[in-house]
Amino acid sequence: MPRKVIIITDPGQDQAVAILMALAAPEHFEILGIVTSAGNISLDFTQKNARKLIELAGRTDVPVFAGCPRPIHRKLVTAEHVHGPTGLDGSDLPEPIVPLQEEHGVDFIIRTLRQLPAGSVTIFSESPLTNLAMALIKAPDIAEKISEIVMMAGAYFEVGNITPSAEFNIYVDPKAADIVLRSGIPMVMLPLDVTHKLLSTPERLDRIAKLGNRAGRTVAGLLSFSEGFDLNKYGWEGAPLHGPTVPAYMIRPEIFGGRQVNVTVEIGSELTLGMTVVDYWQITDRVRNVFYVTEADSDAYYQLIAELIGRLP
Ligand code: BDR
Repeated sequence: MPRKVIIITDPGQDQAVAILMALAAPEHFEILGIVTSAGNISLDFTQKNARKLIELAGRTDVPVFAGCPRPIHRKLVTAEHVHGPTGLDGSDLPEPIVPLQEEHGVDFIIRTLRQLPAGSVTIFSESPLTNLAMALIKAPDIAEKISEIVMMAGAYFEVGNITPSAEFNIYVDPKAADIVLRSGIPMVMLPLDVTHKLLSTPERLDRIAKLGNRAGRTVAGLLSFSEGFDLNKYGWEGAPLHGPTVPAYMIRPEIFGGRQVNVTVEIGSELTLGMTVVDYWQITDRVRNVFYVTEADSDAYYQLIAELIGRLP
């Protein structure tokens, strides 16, 4: 039975790969809708990019919604320095024809969850958590409808990538992260501590480029573009590949390892705003609210990505 999911995302190249993987795997994911966030680039681009991706995958049956154009409590911080001005730089996808849904993304989340039984939907989160937090504030009754939130977010041992102490998705909207982390909903976090072990080496990208389909060529082009920034920054043999950890974890949890811990987020200090404080060594008796992933089999991860992207047109 496929899992019912709502994808919340700000594509961005790595989110694009994650979305394409989910679209390619209907036996695993019944995608109720894609809610686009402001994050890597502005909402104007993320909602358009999501529509380009469903067209590329031949999955225009999946509705795309626009969520909030900015974080709850502060100005939007974006990452064009990583993703380029459009977020899908490195590809040549045409302007989308499929329309954006008229309903607001937050209202879609609330309406959809209210129609379904308790514990029936997984939130597949690839972006700052603004839209999910807003939905939980507006309609607290929806929390019980969510079986699990699986999110690419946070860092502890690898500290930060947008500031010395904060990971991008949390830093953009720390208040939203705080609301979600305190929601009591079961959560899986895929932080930089695991994505920094999943490097897109030239061999791995070459394999995807040679899948023989348009999606494979597109993914290789996208990742070749976005890895430029990280290769330069870290000097590693490949760049971390963040977004696809979410579908990969949901399809093949056995290739990942982690532990149930407390995670809290810094929302006060200017110096460490958005830092995820992980009680990895269980020093406190704070509630263990998150399954925090730190390990993964990188060959199996890239094999799964190639297998799913290879199914697409
Ligand atoms: C996150 O930052 C963004 O640049 C990536 O797309 C990913 O969502 C990783 O910290």
